[in-house]
Amino acid sequence: MDYFNYQSDGQLWAEDVALAKLATQYDTPLYVYSRATLERHWHAFDQAVATHPHLICYAVKANSNLGVLNVLAQLGSGFDIVSLGELERVLAAGGDPAKVVFSGVGKTAQEMQRALELGIKCFNVESEPELDRLNYVAGQLGKIAPISLRINPDVDANTHPYISTGLRDNKFGIARERALDVYQLAHQLPHLNVVGMDCHIGSQLTEVKPFIDATERLLALVDELKLAGIEIKHLDLGGGLGVTYNDEQPPLPAEYATALLSRLAAYPELELIFEPGRAIAANAGVLLTKVEFLKHTEYKNFAIVDAAMNDLIRPTLYSAWQDIVPVIPRQGERQCYDLVGPICETGDFIGKDRHLCLAPNDLLAVRSAGAYGFVMASNYNSRPRVAEVMVDGKQVHLVRARETLDQLWQHEYLVE
Ligand code: LLP
Repeated sequence: MDYFNYQSDGQLWAEDVALAKLATQYDTPLYVYSRATLERHWHAFDQAVATHPHLICYAVKANSNLGVLNVLAQLGSGFDIVSLGELERVLAAGGDPAKVVFSGVGKTAQEMQRALELGIKCFNVESEPELDRLNYVAGQLGKIAPISLRINPDVDANTHPYISTGLRDNKFGIARERALDVYQLAHQLPHLNVVGMDCHIGSQLTEVKPFIDATERLLALVDELKLAGIEIKHLDLGGGLGVTYNDEQPPLPAEYATALLSRLAAYPELELIFEPGRAIAANAGVLLTKVEFLKHTEYKNFAIVDAAMNDLIRPTLYSAWQDIVPVIPRQGERQCYDLVGPICETGDFIGKDRHLCLAPNDLLAVRSAGAYGFVMASNYNSRPRVAEVMVDGKQVHLVRARETLDQLWQHEYLVE
């Protein structure tokens, strides 16, 4: 459920603000987020596991805007980060470093050092060389690093191959067969403290079963480690819960939690960590765009809009389908359009074969754009990155100004 709805005036609103008004005020393309939706999704997760010790660590990569992070920090959220940049963003947004888990296969010594100084909750380690590096950096600082090992449970998440991460031949994590040995190694290293176990099997999962399969494999390993004298205090199941873009029916956090908690009854002290990104942010945002031209050809109709693949790359990169709806629907016959951007690539499309009734200057909302939208934007074709606003009831906060043209080359130099 989200707070982007058509109101009695027939127009699409974000909470208590008409999207058309935002387009006039801030221009297009424009990312619009809904605070109430972000909060609702976060609470849905938090409440689903309320009966068990847990921490929701929002995956910053999904949408790292300071305004978004700030809204979640105010709820007491933890954060899952993958870089120094994300760590500093969390701090700048008022997040608590003691609730930060650090994922990623390539953490640098500099990143480890800063995270150790800040006292993050856990490093999710993905390989033996990473263990060695972390042990060394912690030793240099006279600190003990809390660690979890990311286990690759080898389960098929049944999702797009680019966002499937829990299979044997993905680059992520430590193979289940090697896990006991690597835990024993970590346990012996003097500047590490083994506290957890984690996995993340993929993104946009639409069924509970792969999560449960992975959890069962991990719990078996928790038992094995206990016998070997290694106590696991938290189990981090990563992110990955899917959302409805079209007609998918992903489980609600409550269904996911019910299935999980039945497996966790025997582990009342084992803290659960989740790293949801998409499930919190995707449907809390839309990308507003304007129709520049309509081009009708013998073979196809094109609606050329002012947003492009540099603003929202998911359709191009993953053949992702996102709903595209008129902000002010007009009466008339619908036609079949490809919605394309102004970039000089055939792959520059936002949606294909959409049945819409359009005229130049019409506003469209690309739905489910709150996750992996702006964060994946680029300046390709020297297009300034667009503005982002956060709607909160009747209020509107500009949470990122539109880039200006001279910002495009502010870090570039002439050769002389
Ligand atoms: N934790 C880890 C370790 C991850 O790698 C990811 C996502 C998450 C959590 C959050 O997953 P979520 O709850 O959002 O599914 N750009 C792609 C998605 C890439 C996801 C990468 N990892 C897309 O636009 O579909």
